[in-house]
Parts: sequence; C-alpha cells; structure tokens
Amino acid sequence: MNKIAIIGAGRVGEAAAHLLAQKSLAKDVVLVDVRPGIAEGVALDIQECAPLFGFDVRLHGSTDLAAIVDSDIVVITAGKPRQPGMSRMGVLGENNKILLSIAEGVRQYAAGAIVIVVSNPVDILTYQLWKHTGFPKHRVIGQAGVLDAARMASFVALETGYSVQDISTMVLGGHGDSMVPMTRYTCISGIPISHFLDDETIEKIVKRTREGGAEILALKQTSSAYDAPGAAIVEMVEAIHYDRKRLLPCVALLDGEYGHHDIAAGVPVVLGAKGLESVVELDLEPAEVDALNASLSRLREDLKTLDKSS
Ligand code: 2OP
Repeated sequence: MNKIAIIGAGRVGEAAAHLLAQKSLAKDVVLVDVRPGIAEGVALDIQECAPLFGFDVRLHGSTDLAAIVDSDIVVITAGKPRQPGMSRMGVLGENNKILLSIAEGVRQYAAGAIVIVVSNPVDILTYQLWKHTGFPKHRVIGQAGVLDAARMASFVALETGYSVQDISTMVLGGHGDSMVPMTRYTCISGIPISHFLDDETIEKIVKRTREGGAEILALKQTSSAYDAPGAAIVEMVEAIHYDRKRLLPCVALLDGEYGHHDIAAGVPVVLGAKGLESVVELDLEPAEVDALNASLSRLREDLKTLDKSS
C-alpha cells in the first residue's frame, strides 16, 4: 500500500496516523484538516518519532483536500466532536455538511480509494458518503463495530480475569443506544460467556458496551475517546493491507442482507484487499431480530430527519 489519507487531524486522526506509521502500513500517510497548521503540526510531530521507532513512513499535513490524491485508503475522522451529555445524533446536522464536502473531494481526488468513515453518527454518515460519492458499496465501510467489540472484549476480560487474546465478541446494529451486543456469540476460547458469568454481569457488560463512548466522554469532559478508536481504524486498515479476510463487525451498506435495503448498519463483514468483501448473515433468534430491526428503524428515522432538513 502506498498512501493512506486521514481527513481530520483531531485526536482520533492523530492516534490512527501514529499507529499506522509505527506499523509501516503505507509509504505515505497524509493528514488533512481545515484548521491551518494542525495537520502539518501533527504530521511533523509523528515524523519526528520515526528515528525512535524506526519507521520510514513519510507523513504530510495539509489544509487542502487535494493532498489525498491517489490514496489507496481514505479515513474520515473530521467533524464536530460530541460534548458531554450530547448524543452522537446531536452532531448530525453539522457533521453531515462536513461529510458532504469531503465526499466531493474524495470523488475528485481519490476515486479509486477504499473509504473508512469514522465521524459520527457513523452509520448515517457512511450511508451519506456512499450515496454522494457513488462508490461501489465494497469500498465504503464505517468503523464502529471493531471499536464496540473491543470495548466489550475489554469488559469481559475485566470481569473474568481471562486474557483478551482468548475473548471474541460480536456487535450488530447502530453505534449508540440501539447497538446490539451479541452475548450469544461472545466466547472465551470458543466457550460461551454464559459458562463463566451470571446473567446480571452479562447485562452489565452489554450496557457498558452500548454506553462505552459516553462513559469516556463523561470522564474526560473535554474529549471523546481516541486511543481505542485509533487502534480500531488500524485493525481495519491492516486487514485490508494484508488481505487478511478478517471477519469483523463494521458498518456496511445493506442490499437485502438481514432483510434490509438502502441503509448502512453494523453487521459482520469480511475485510480484505478489495475492502468490504462480503456481509456475513448470522442465524438470529427472534429477540435478536427484533433488537436489530429496532436499531435499524432508529437509523431510518435519523435519515428521514436529514432528508427533511436538506
Ligand atoms: C466513541 O464511541 C466517539 O463514537 C465514538 O467513543
């Protein structure tokens, strides 16, 4: 992979750029931010880590979207951050406008790129990016499930004391209150967590996973999470870079899968060199189908709000 662009040099963009450079996942990493000097400063700061970590990646910063030209992967983290007490939807109007201008730039300068949308509300903005670029759906992916599943795995590890290396989790639906953490598919070395934890503890993990972003925002007050979101971006980029065929929860454009069309939501997908190579359809139980449908109904309502205001 030659070039990865990160649009938005805030904390998530910076965390991702730093990890991408440390892992040498591209020859060039470009950061773009509308605030003068920010992307340039972040790029230079990370570049100066190169002798310490021994990477030969070149980092560049710019205020001009044209700097993303010919990128293999474009990661979009730009947008207004949430304030404490604010839902992800609270930033929809403003972040939608920002996303639309970025979509135009991506179409113009990086028409062959795989795009990873991270800005919130991620399910809605992934749909908007797809719609406004006209890119094929395998090249438009939203990042939320990898982060949510990592949070869930962390909480399982904290509750059981077992290694995160043996814990696997799965999360469906929207990135927010309507998220559907799949306890039935949460295992420790293939053994369902119900073997280790009682119902009350599992319910506590589910709630904490749904509210994972808000928990960190409430603690930090001045910033949302960025270390885990940055690491989650890098896990996705790595899967694409090495054509790993990882099975990960991501926001995908649905075209009949799970009985839904014309919407983007969190589902298990296969990530490889072509991007989002397929959606994996799980055999859901009736209560899980209801939870997923409820989550998608919320997303449809949000999309309608956007249609009305535009
Ligand atoms: C999070 O969950 C901000 O959506 C991001 O931390």
